Amino acid sequence: MADITFTLNGERITLREEPNLRFLDVLREKLNHTGAKEGCGEGECGACAILLDGHIVNSCLLPLASVDGRDVVTIEGYRMTERYQMLEKAFIEEGAVQCGICTPGMMIAAESMLRENPDPTDEEIRHGLAGNLCRCTGYNMIIAAIRRAAKEGEGLW
Ligand code: FES
Ligand code: FES
Repeated sequence: MADITFTLNGERITLREEPNLRFLDVLREKLNHTGAKEGCGEGECGACAILLDGHIVNSCLLPLASVDGRDVVTIEGYRMTERYQMLEKAFIEEGAVQCGICTPGMMIAAESMLRENPDPTDEEIRHGLAGNLCRCTGYNMIIAAIRRAAKEGEGLW
């Protein structure tokens, strides 16, 4: 057991847990943050994506010890932002959500991408989503949604 202290969606918390627990399980089972999903469990699908110090990471590959002293944002925190609202509107308008399993990870990936490149080309959006799999949409609606959010949300990112 070890004390692990980190910021989760703006709130500083300390957990006394086994440091090698998967952070995805800690989020979902101990902190009741179920927005990050388990898809593959092997770092391939992006359904479990979170932001760690502002960078996208797959929480299924992250031991709890790795978040000690760091800043974690999950979809539960990100959804309180204006940028999330813009993405959500664009995803709805473009029909980019079907079963929704991939959607939290897609939103996190979009945030990570748009923060670095607020005016991406379609190719750059595809590249930015390379770590996120969707079994439903064929990706075109998701790409259109991110393009729309970037355009309509100009100045937000
Ligand atoms: S569940 Fe983590 S990348 Fe698939
Ligand atoms: S909407 Fe179903 S996996 Fe993407």
